[in-house]
Amino acid sequence: MPHVRTPAGELYYTLKRGPDHGPKLVLVHGAGGSRLHWPAELRRMPDVTVYTLDLPGHGRSEGDGCKTVAGYAAAVVSFLDAVQIHEAVVAGHSMGGAIAQTLALEHRHRISMLVLIGTGARLRVSPAILQGIASDFEGAVDLITEYAWSSETDAAVKELGRGALRNAGAHVVLGCFLACDRFDVMDRLAGIEVPTLVVNGTADELTPIKYARFLADHIPRARLVTVEGAGHMVMLERPEEVAQAIRGFLTAELPPTS
Ligand code: COA
Repeated sequence: MPHVRTPAGELYYTLKRGPDHGPKLVLVHGAGGSRLHWPAELRRMPDVTVYTLDLPGHGRSEGDGCKTVAGYAAAVVSFLDAVQIHEAVVAGHSMGGAIAQTLALEHRHRISMLVLIGTGARLRVSPAILQGIASDFEGAVDLITEYAWSSETDAAVKELGRGALRNAGAHVVLGCFLACDRFDVMDRLAGIEVPTLVVNGTADELTPIKYARFLADHIPRARLVTVEGAGHMVMLERPEEVAQAIRGFLTAELPPTS
């Protein structure tokens, strides 16, 4: 699977090719995550070219990670340049959703549509998480895991999340959560001009459903899909429902091909 050299370091991604003139969907994971936080239903979505990226410092990508959402957004722009995507549909989860909003605000011409999953326009982080990462990383991994998944989630799936956090390490994960804590575009959402799908679990404890409603109410061309009973990792907890929501959104927003 490919690596690509960018000013942000060597970045690893997977690619599922779709029709040449079809949409190019870029999946951007959250703090301490990896490309494996996206289920096969999204990574292999039919009729769409899908790029699934490991952010700097995560998964198999190089780098130390970033301490600002703007830094990660710049890395994603470098990635788009390196793989020659002029305009992308960007789907971001949690911190990835903050990155996606930043791209739509600061790099408007590179984005055709947004999918914002389990995220918000402001992402203040619980002091227990921030202090825990610095003082007791293994305890913080447990705490984040407890918040991130709904109570019905299979233990093996939760282990995937733990593994990604441990692999990223305390330094990168702390940088991500500091980046989230500083992120706030609540006053700027009217400037997101592209069609936007907002997806959130109703039982999300890290980015509560209130955050999703705020996004949907303030982004002019947004629509909201809620997933009943799902937690923060909604796309892994309920992959088919999330894939269906994205398919419906793309079909409704894309111009007819013939
Ligand atoms: N969308 C809509 N409303 C939001 C928002 C968003 N993205 N972010 C904050 N708000 C609202 C809050 O609900 C709150 O409203 P209220 O005054 O009516 O209760 C207000 O804005 C201020 O909230 P916040 O900025 O979060 O500050 P706080 O001091 O009240 O709370 C925390 C700080 C960390 C305790 C709180 O943000 C929290 O529990 N966060 C969720 C857990 C977490 O760590 N998430 C990690 C995200 S990556």
